[in-house]
Amino acid sequence: MIHNRLPPTPTATKHKADDKPFQFISIVGKSLILLFILSFISIGLYTAFYDPKSGGITPTAALHRLHSSIARNNAAAADHRRRDPNNNSPTNLSHLLFALSGSNDTWDDRSKSNSVWWSPNRTRGFVWLEDVQRPDSSPAPNSAPTRVSSPEWTRFGFSSSRPAVRIARTITDSFGLKLPGVRWFVMGDDDTVFFPENLVSLLANYDHNEMWYIGGNSESVEQAVMHSYEMAFGGGGFAISYPLAELLVENLDRCLERFHYFYGSDQRIWACITELGVGLTPHRGFHQMDIRGSAYGLLAAHPMAPLISLHHLGAMDPLFPGQDHLASVRTLYRAYKADPARILQPSYGYDHHLNWSVSISWGYTVQLYPNLVAVHDLQVPLQTFKTWRTFSEGPFTFNTRPTGPDPCSIPIVFMLDKVQSIGTWGTLTVYKRMEPAVKCRRPNFIRAMSVHRVVISSVVMEPDYWSKAPRRQCSDLVNGGGRMRGETLQIRVRRCGDREIVSTVE
Ligand SMILES: *[C@@H]1O[C@H](CO)[C@@H](O)[C@H](O)[C@H]1NC(C)=O
Ligand SMILES: *[C@@H]1O[C@H](CO)[C@@H](O)[C@H](O)[C@H]1NC(C)=O
Ligand SMILES: *[C@@H]1O[C@H](CO)[C@@H](O)[C@H](O)[C@H]1NC(C)=O
Ligand SMILES: *[C@@H]1O[C@H](CO)[C@@H](O)[C@H](O)[C@H]1NC(C)=O
Repeated sequence: MIHNRLPPTPTATKHKADDKPFQFISIVGKSLILLFILSFISIGLYTAFYDPKSGGITPTAALHRLHSSIARNNAAAADHRRRDPNNNSPTNLSHLLFALSGSNDTWDDRSKSNSVWWSPNRTRGFVWLEDVQRPDSSPAPNSAPTRVSSPEWTRFGFSSSRPAVRIARTITDSFGLKLPGVRWFVMGDDDTVFFPENLVSLLANYDHNEMWYIGGNSESVEQAVMHSYEMAFGGGGFAISYPLAELLVENLDRCLERFHYFYGSDQRIWACITELGVGLTPHRGFHQMDIRGSAYGLLAAHPMAPLISLHHLGAMDPLFPGQDHLASVRTLYRAYKADPARILQPSYGYDHHLNWSVSISWGYTVQLYPNLVAVHDLQVPLQTFKTWRTFSEGPFTFNTRPTGPDPCSIPIVFMLDKVQSIGTWGTLTVYKRMEPAVKCRRPNFIRAMSVHRVVISSVVMEPDYWSKAPRRQCSDLVNGGGRMRGETLQIRVRRCGDREIVSTVE
């Protein structure tokens, strides 16, 4: 529009006239720059496509070559899609093939925790053993079926752990079965406890026709430093998409020869994957559990991400006081089954009249603080554990809060006791109070100790809840505000309002 355009000011016009000689220079200069850029681009193209074996090719030939290699890749991808006629259907459990590593000597024992999460005829996969089990062995009913690793692994060198080679090759053994409809290979240990529904929801967010390497790192800095921050730790488990598995298997044996000096199988796999140009897609729901002592603090402050796996449970205190390892896993699993996406999900709430703060890790524990603690503190795990390797006080790959010795500095703890489904849409979970070893004698603590049970009601989370931008849910202390009768604190966990905030101030 004309009226928007300002007429040239007299100064500007004058300036133009005075610039005549410089204009000529600038035309020469511009041509030079153009020439420079053109030659730069052709040198760039030439070096990019220079093939030392062919003795050098023209950029046009290089482009042709590039086009035909893209066409080849597309054809390979199309071929993979043809093999699975339902390639575009949503990913479900049947598309995952678990490749677990075990040992014929320990499987009877390890199969117990496996049977908690394995569902025969629904979960697909095998536990790979070095040899057949003794005839009198008796793995837990409803645990994963076993297979013996193909014996080629014995020819590879190793410097510290011999089984590591065999375990790395479980991807080769699993891929070699050529089972139909497999989109993801999920590697794990015989003692890894998976939460398969959550793993399916997570993997459904990724295109299985692309190359993905998805897993989690260690909790202990000493472990991450020693192995790698870029590596998926094998005990927490990791997922490899079909095309990546295909390329990995093609190259793995050569990698195993070269990387014989590594400690673990997961490190060998990682080192090989790095050479394929694929990096780790980290996810916070995989738990290697490289910690010692009590995992309580960590699981009571889980990040906002679906729980995918737990490992090393036998190496720590049982998750629930008064229950052994297996019973503890079963207790947690009861809540998981009732509302898979919600298990261990954090939620915080306040009673602004009594000055109480509540921190929830759904399906596991509730913490009650008889004072106002900000969310950014509540979400930091209490350090109830030590590092994996050296049993040190840290550092960890996340922040921690100290736990005492002042009994007034730690919360009143409630642990999951009962799970009740309401139809298919809701749940009631009941948490009962633990007796603290040392009691805090302050009046606000004594008042809060009158709560003996916490009952949480919530609506079952949609499976795709965590594929959206993650937002914590809100908690209402239903009978708070001094209206609590009896010994039960009732809490409703629900989606927050769009503009709702959770804060120590009302
Ligand atoms: C999983 O998806 C496949 C299609 O790829 C379908 O045939 C099968 O019925 C689905 N299984 C379940 C349990 O939904
Ligand atoms: C699994 O399938 C087999 C064969 O169809 C059947 O015999 C077996 O009872 C099934 N197991 C369970 C636990 O459903
Ligand atoms: C497991 O396999 C190894 C290697 O063949 C063997 O030495 C061991 O005796 C086997 N253990 C059992 C319980 O079969
Ligand atoms: C809660 O905290 C506020 C501000 O510190 C204080 O004024 C109030 O008396 C406290 N209420 C109770 C019940 O402790």
